[in-house]
Amino acid sequence: MQNTRTDPAVQTNDTATSAVRIRGLVKTFGDYTAVNHIDLDIRRGEIFGVLGPNGAGKTTMINMLATLLPIDDGSAEIFGVDVAREPHKIRQLIGVTGQYASVDEKLTGRENLQLIARLQGLSRTAARSIAVELLEEFGLGAAADKPLSTFSGGMRRRLDLAASLITRPPLIFLDEPTTGLDPRTRNQMWETIRNLVAGGVTVLLTTQYLEEADQLADRIAVIDRGQIVAQGTPNELKASIGGSSLQLILSEAGEEEQARGVISELFAGDVVHVPNAGAITVALHDASDAATVLMALREHSIDVVSINVQEPSLDDVFLTITGETATEADREEISA
Ligand SMILES: Nc1ncnc2c1ncn2[C@@H]1O[C@H](COP(=O)(O)OP(=O)(O)O)[C@@H](O)[C@H]1O
Ligand SMILES: [Mg+2]
Repeated sequence: MQNTRTDPAVQTNDTATSAVRIRGLVKTFGDYTAVNHIDLDIRRGEIFGVLGPNGAGKTTMINMLATLLPIDDGSAEIFGVDVAREPHKIRQLIGVTGQYASVDEKLTGRENLQLIARLQGLSRTAARSIAVELLEEFGLGAAADKPLSTFSGGMRRRLDLAASLITRPPLIFLDEPTTGLDPRTRNQMWETIRNLVAGGVTVLLTTQYLEEADQLADRIAVIDRGQIVAQGTPNELKASIGGSSLQLILSEAGEEEQARGVISELFAGDVVHVPNAGAITVALHDASDAATVLMALREHSIDVVSINVQEPSLDDVFLTITGETATEADREEISA
């Protein structure tokens, strides 16, 4: 067992600018390519979100980075350390959640953390003090001495996260940290993750929730069937699928078609949609075009009672991107 209290700076290649550098990463299971030539650069101190549906290859990618699965092709470096060549060093640099699901139900939260800390090579005293520290940090102080069997789903996730931090690793993998949690508990978990990053660690977060990536991640890679299909900040991704939309409620239902005619003269393309009577939605290239629309409607005496400019959501991004790539032809090629 390694001494887990080593200063990470000693272990890393300090000239590495990225926290994680992945090139051409591949994993195949039989003739199925679960991770298909992924390139990724994660900067120090950021939350990087890998967003993708169930089965996209997120966990497989993380397991390779965490040295839990062999890399079939390509390479990965964490703080300049090669994952395949120096797995023992990598294990000192990372914290992985989801590994401690099988901790003892009869033991208390505190006992579980102490046990894991001891298994990681900490002394009895060090294990005791890190457990106290982490239980406080994750809002589990009050429940510290209750058996795990009494813990809620959210408390278990927090304990799991706490366990992954025992060695204070500079890089944390959070593999779908809130899947299955109710909205309130999910929000608490988000808060916990934000606090974590404020402490300077780098986080690689996978999620199926677009809102989660939007809320937490500095940058996002959208992954679908083992491949990165889009990458950027949440705002860049939203911008890449086009601008915002202007949603209007007309004071008189029945004027939609007239309004459509007026607006169609302003912009090229089919930009007007009528979701229901009296309501129209205008796809805007630029949010400032909203004023142009409103002035034109006023000139034609079409009154508007409600105005709302809607930014595109990551859901739109995801649908647009995966809709384009997830063709039946791709599917057949992959499963062939
Ligand atoms: N050990 C394995 N053996 C065979 N196929 C696997 C194995 N692990 C994952 N897969 C397959 O690889 C694909 C990606 O899985 P996974 O990485 O778990 O996706 P995600 O975490 O994005 O939901 C899935 O089709 C899954 O069935
Ligand atoms: Mg997974």
